[in-house]
Amino acid sequence: MEFKFHMPTRVYFGRGCIGKNVEELAGLGSKALIVTGGQSAKISGALCDACSALERFNVGYTIFDRVENNPSTDTVKIGAGEAKQAGADFIIGIGGGSPLDAAKAIAVLSANDMEPEQLFTNSFPNKPLPIIAIPTTAGTGSEVTPYSVLTRSDLQTKKSFGNKDTFPVIAFLDPHYTQSQPVNVTINTALDAFSHNMEGYISTRSTPVSDILAAEGIRLFGCCLDSLKIGVFTLEDRENMLYASLLGGMVISQTGTNLIHPTAYNYTYFKDIPHGKANGYLMAEFLRFNYEAAKDKVENILKLTGFESIDAFAEAIAYLTGEAPRIDEAEIAQYVAIAMTQRGIHTNIRPVQSEDLAEFLRKI
Ligand SMILES: [Fe+2]
Repeated sequence: MEFKFHMPTRVYFGRGCIGKNVEELAGLGSKALIVTGGQSAKISGALCDACSALERFNVGYTIFDRVENNPSTDTVKIGAGEAKQAGADFIIGIGGGSPLDAAKAIAVLSANDMEPEQLFTNSFPNKPLPIIAIPTTAGTGSEVTPYSVLTRSDLQTKKSFGNKDTFPVIAFLDPHYTQSQPVNVTINTALDAFSHNMEGYISTRSTPVSDILAAEGIRLFGCCLDSLKIGVFTLEDRENMLYASLLGGMVISQTGTNLIHPTAYNYTYFKDIPHGKANGYLMAEFLRFNYEAAKDKVENILKLTGFESIDAFAEAIAYLTGEAPRIDEAEIAQYVAIAMTQRGIHTNIRPVQSEDLAEFLRKI
């Protein structure tokens, strides 16, 4: 047995966790840049709670609320410009995966004289500004990962960067913030969290510790399946989904993502499909593809989620995602070529060749 486990983020989970730990939120510096997408940070109450905490400790702040879904390198460059102009010495990201990922990029660019494209070298002369992450969706897990996923229009895909310095210093997870999310966002983000746990579980980089976390995250998705199907959520469901998302983030912070994410990015980039839903399209085939190579783990996923077969699993996931858009052979070739350039695809337990992935996509 040989493994590494590094998860340096201080996590506060539970109702009112910001209010109960205001000195933590306000203690990282004297001027914050708050990075949000504009909507869920306000509606959820998270932005208000963060601003109140900062005001109570006389910590100044500027709000950058222009982060779009699947943020671009241009957006983070603008955000870093605002952080520098404001003299921010720490960054607070509030929202779904997009604002949290943008916050990490802005934290690096604010502390360094570099172009956003250089982020992907994962080598930064100066340490990023400290980051606080406050998720308002239960899916990304970005609050406990070093990864920031940005859209690269030059490469026609999403690409991630991150190193040990881009983990948020502190994460506040209040399940109440996720209650304002609409049903479709709740379903798509739950699928994303589930995907992180599954991909990390069936990865060549999985470890004994990451497997414990992944198995629990997978089980919690199974507990929430009935609620996801009917689109009605109790506070306990919200807690379970946020906890599963946290666990999924901890898992991929050790293992990275695997086959599903790099392949699914194509559906998001070319077909504008939400990230979690795009992952969902690929899940059942992912289990079939890995069945022989990782039989025990695939069977455990089925057991933990309450299914007797991959076919039954496929039906339940398809109920949540709907049908994947049809893609032709030229698109399949394009998707495969792009996905094969990403590191994650080469960490699947069963090795993936281009022709395997093309066949995989034909079955979706
Ligand atoms: Fe994801």
